[in-house]
Amino acid sequence: METKVPFLRPSLGEGEINEVLDTLRSGWLTSGPKVRRFEVEFAEAVGAKHAVALNSCTAALHLAVEALGLKPGDGVLVPTMTFAATAEVVRYMGAVPILVDCDPVTANMDLTDAGKKLAGLREGTLPPPIPLDTRVVGIIVVHVGGLMMNVGGVRDFAASHGLWVVEDAAHAFPAAWRPSPSKPWERCGEGTSAITCYSFYANKTITTGEGGMAVTDDAKLADRMRLMSLHGLSHDAWGRYSGKGAWDYRIMAPGFKYNLTDIAAAIGIHQLAKAESMRSEREAIAGRYFEAFAGTEELELPPRDPDRVHSWHLFPIRLCLERLGVGRNEFVEALKAAGVGCSVHWRPLHLHQYYEETYCWGAEDFPAATALWERLVSLPIFPGMTDAEVMHVVAAVKNICIEYSCAREAVAA
Ligand SMILES: Cc1ncc(COP(=O)(O)O)c(C=O)c1O
Repeated sequence: METKVPFLRPSLGEGEINEVLDTLRSGWLTSGPKVRRFEVEFAEAVGAKHAVALNSCTAALHLAVEALGLKPGDGVLVPTMTFAATAEVVRYMGAVPILVDCDPVTANMDLTDAGKKLAGLREGTLPPPIPLDTRVVGIIVVHVGGLMMNVGGVRDFAASHGLWVVEDAAHAFPAAWRPSPSKPWERCGEGTSAITCYSFYANKTITTGEGGMAVTDDAKLADRMRLMSLHGLSHDAWGRYSGKGAWDYRIMAPGFKYNLTDIAAAIGIHQLAKAESMRSEREAIAGRYFEAFAGTEELELPPRDPDRVHSWHLFPIRLCLERLGVGRNEFVEALKAAGVGCSVHWRPLHLHQYYEETYCWGAEDFPAATALWERLVSLPIFPGMTDAEVMHVVAAVKNICIEYSCAREAVAA
C-alpha cells in the first residue's frame, strides 16, 4: 500500500519561502547577516549567552568536544541508546566513548550505570580494548525524543567525578525541566552544562534542511567553536568581504568547514519564531495518542512527566511482546502495509558492528537498552498532521494489536 501517513512532513510556510528568496536576491548566500540574526534569536530563545550556528548537530558536537580540549586516549561517557553522531565525535578526536546503558522507561542515560562503568574502568572489568589507564574527562547526555533528563542530576554526577557536560539536544528544542513543581523551569540550553548542541536536520523539531547550533555561557568556548567552524581563520568571509574587516586573515588552528549558510538561516529564523506553536501541535497529537491507546494492553506508551516541557520530537511506543504474537520488525512491516510511515530510535550503539568489534561490548553490558530497543516503534508526530492522519495511525496500530494479540490467539484455541 502507498504511504497514507508519512513519518514526517516539514512544516514550512510563506515566511520561510520569502526569507529564502530575499536571501537569494540579496547576493549574500553563505554565513552572513541572517546567520548572525538566527544566532542572536536562538540564544535568546534558550537563555544562553552565546550561540554558534553550524551546518549540523554533528558539527556542533565535534566542535564542542574539541573546544573542551578532548585529547586522544581520553574517555567520555556516552549513552548506547543514541544516534551515531553522539559517539563518533569522540572517535574523531581519537578518544574513547565509554558506552552507558539507558533507563528502561525513559531511554535516557542511566547515571547509576554511568557510575558502574567508571567503577568497572578502575577495577579492570570493562572489555579489554578500553585501556585501564583511560582518563575519563566528560559526559555527553542525550534527551531522547525530547524528554529531558534530570539535568541537575547529570551536573551533580559530573561534578562528583570531575567531568565536563555536553548536552546532545538534537531532539530537545524547545524543551525544559525542573527538579520539582516548587522549583523554577530551566530551558534546555540554559544553565551550567558546558555546551548544548541542537539539530535542524529535515526531520527535527525546527529545521533548516541541514543545520545545527552550539550554545554556551562561556565566551572562550564560543570563540573557539566559532574559530574552528571556519578553518581556524582569524575572521570569517562576512568580515572579509562585507567591508567590515580586512582581507588578510590568519590561520590560527587547523579548523573545519562547519559554517551554516544564510540560505539555511533564512529558514531557521522563521522556524524559530513558530517553534513553540509547532511544539504545542505535537503535544496535542501526543495527547490524542495517549487517549486513543489508553486501554491497549499490547502497548506501553512513552513516559510523560509534569516536571518536563517535552518537545515531542518522537512518540516511541513500546510493544508488550509477551502479549503480541509478532516481534517489532513484523509490527513495523504491518504498519507500513497499512500505509503508516514509522521508524525505530534506535538500534543501540553496542549492537552496531563498529562498536562491537572495536570495543568488544556485549549485549549483557547494557541489559536495559538491549531489551528496550526490541520493543520500540516511533509513530508519526509532526505539526500539520491532520485529524484524519492521526485517526489512520490510531486505527492501524489498534488493528495490528488486535490481529496479533496473544489474548485473541488464546481465545481462538
Ligand atoms: C541524538 C542525536 N544526536 C545527533 C544527531 C545528529 O544531528 P545532525 O544530523 O544535525 O548532525 C542526531 C540526528 O538524528 C540525533 O538523533
